Amino acid sequence: RAEVVINGSSSPAVVDRSNESIKHNIQPASAKWRHNQTLSLRIRKQILKFLDAEKDISVLKGTLKPGDIIHYIFDRDSTMNVSQNLYELLPRTSPLKNKHFGTCAIVGNSGVLLNSGCGQEIDTHSFVIRCNLAPVQEYARDVGLKTDLVTMNPSVVQRAFEDLVNATWREKLLQRLHSLNGSILWIPAFMARGGKQRVEWVNELILKHRVNVRTAYPSLRLLHAVRGYWLTNKVHIKRPTTGLLMYTLATRFCNQIYLYGFWPFPLDQNQNPVKYHYYDSLKYGYTSQASPHTMPLEFKALKSLHEQGALKLTVGQCD
Ligand code: CTP
Repeated sequence: RAEVVINGSSSPAVVDRSNESIKHNIQPASAKWRHNQTLSLRIRKQILKFLDAEKDISVLKGTLKPGDIIHYIFDRDSTMNVSQNLYELLPRTSPLKNKHFGTCAIVGNSGVLLNSGCGQEIDTHSFVIRCNLAPVQEYARDVGLKTDLVTMNPSVVQRAFEDLVNATWREKLLQRLHSLNGSILWIPAFMARGGKQRVEWVNELILKHRVNVRTAYPSLRLLHAVRGYWLTNKVHIKRPTTGLLMYTLATRFCNQIYLYGFWPFPLDQNQNPVKYHYYDSLKYGYTSQASPHTMPLEFKALKSLHEQGALKLTVGQCD
């Protein structure tokens, strides 16, 4: 059969706003889980009908020039001009060109990682993807250190680096960028108008201080293409989260995909409280009407893929 059953039912999924983590029981890491190669390949093929991670991971230099006007994906009436700095930082070729990895880790930011002891395991994967410049050094035992690609929503500059109000915060961001040491920094610059200035600040810092990162700016079609794939599979997400975007992209170049730190619930499987992020005090907000994400729904889809062996979710301690 051609269809991949992700939702687990043929009827459209309803938005699951419940926080009853007990319903989402996942076997402990040590329990038997087998990779389903056939299914993984089928998913890769299906996703390729919607997007090609090799191309959509970044706009390339050849396709834009300084001064070009871009309409924001979520604010179609607002535009930005491609600045000289942005142009300079566009890659000439895809950072994923001809890349293939045996196993990849995608590290979400849930507090479920705290005390997981997963750091070592995460670092053994060939390619490690992290989200939103989440700190690693102080949490290495639980989250590892290896970083091959890290995302950075423009909002991170505000939330984690106080909008660079003074030299101390600018230095903090600069140090964090230096620590990436050659990895890919993936900045969704064309999503929403609010991020314009923040993206410019980061671009400026990178160029001025010759930071050793490989910048990538996702294509204008990526978001809708990813959403289209999941909608076709009856996963009725509003706007894919960074984590789901990363999984969707990773299917293209990773043979086996391991997810850590994906747990959008305030209680763990033993009913103990779980922080929303492992590193800050941000509260659970996705249940509000205003939030564009539908994380529990995404989680349900990922869990179903875990059960079918297409990916492996770890939501407890590592061995
Ligand atoms: N995540 C999760 N459970 C949490 C927190 C995060 O499953 N409690 C996953 C989501 O897939 C999320 C990813 O980890 O996309 C990274 O977390 P975060 O930085 O909070 O990402 P977003 O919510 O997508 O970012 P933003 O709030 O800037 O849109």
